[in-house]
Amino acid sequence: MQATRFFKKLITPSGCVRNFASQTKKVTLIPGDGIGPEISAAVQKIFATAQVPIEWESVDVTPVRNPDGRFGIPQAAIDSVNRNKVGLKGPLMTPVGKGHRSLNLALRKEFDLYANVRPCRSLEGYKTLYDDVDVVTIRENTEGEYSGIEHEIVDGVVQSIKLITEEASKRVAEYAFQYAKENHRSKVTVVHKANIMRMSDGLFLRCCRETADKFPEIKFEERYLDTVCLNMVQDPRQYDVLVMPNLYGDILSDMCAGLVGGLGLTPSGNIGLGGALFESVHGTAPDIAGKDLANPTALLLSAVMMLRHMEMNDKADKIQKACFETIKEGKYLTGDLGGKAKCSEFTNAICEKLA
Ligand SMILES: NC(=O)c1ccc[n+]([C@@H]2O[C@H](COP(=O)([O-])OP(=O)(O)OC[C@H]3O[C@@H](n4cnc5c(N)ncnc54)[C@H](O)[C@@H]3O)[C@@H](O)[C@H]2O)c1
Repeated sequence: MQATRFFKKLITPSGCVRNFASQTKKVTLIPGDGIGPEISAAVQKIFATAQVPIEWESVDVTPVRNPDGRFGIPQAAIDSVNRNKVGLKGPLMTPVGKGHRSLNLALRKEFDLYANVRPCRSLEGYKTLYDDVDVVTIRENTEGEYSGIEHEIVDGVVQSIKLITEEASKRVAEYAFQYAKENHRSKVTVVHKANIMRMSDGLFLRCCRETADKFPEIKFEERYLDTVCLNMVQDPRQYDVLVMPNLYGDILSDMCAGLVGGLGLTPSGNIGLGGALFESVHGTAPDIAGKDLANPTALLLSAVMMLRHMEMNDKADKIQKACFETIKEGKYLTGDLGGKAKCSEFTNAICEKLA
């Protein structure tokens, strides 16, 4: 589905189009913190078994002090993503209230990763409240409540600015409708609170309405955030593709992940103008880090999304099938799915199917 989008991005300054589908392609790997290195190693092992023509370029994003005294992502990591245009990322630890700012935010800003895409689909073999959840949340990823513009007006009074621009709202709306069209989805719902935040959410809503006019084949509806939360837990089948500002997307996408079995199963993609980064939506899970207990499925399915983005659909299908079958059989489930298997045992079970 991403073919046109992907190849458009791959037009070099000299005008040549590079076709990555037929040759070994370098991909940036950010293993991350906590369980990140374990689940990254699991993905690498599964990819090697499936003989995916990918060469991993592993980079460290531990912040370094720049000449201006500020901490930031190391230049080598930035160069790697800019060169390869596609990357896979494990979770990164964010210190609370002190230290460096969120590296996830910094990466989104650095590469202008404007749309966060999270497909949430029920998995056969892992029983949850509903058997047929199939929703995709598309979240504006660069501004809104997460613009990082905060200040103290006077002692004891702080202000945080929610920034909404027409440019960012239009491009994420456009992405959502294009995604729906290319993935044969029938409906896009914009999630908002324009009744309260009339100017900011009002602008976001207007951009979605204008974009909807360009896609008459896709049904468009507008819903308040609170209504969507209520409906989502009562009957998630009524939703298809949802598009929304940053904070709402952060919360709603985790809620959708909960409906299909939790964070250990949910993949995501961050789509940008200069490249795309795919990542699991869970954090570093410090409570189980280093114990071989983590579920690598979310990162593996993120890597599968990455393969589709790179037009390696047959490899993507093969790995996804092996993963879903392993979960369906239920013999090697990790603790978060109610099993007793180690991360390595689950990984080996997938590899056996692929081999
Ligand atoms: N995208 C990211 O990089 C990202 C996202 C969320 C949180 N974080 C960071 O991660 C750290 C820990 O955050 P948290 O504890 O709130 O959330 P978390 O997702 O790390 O953990 C929440 C719970 O889910 C479990 N869990 C998460 N992933 C799992 C997996 N793959 N397999 C099995 N169990 C899993 C954990 O053991 C824990 O009990 C924080 O520093 C936070 O900033 C990073």
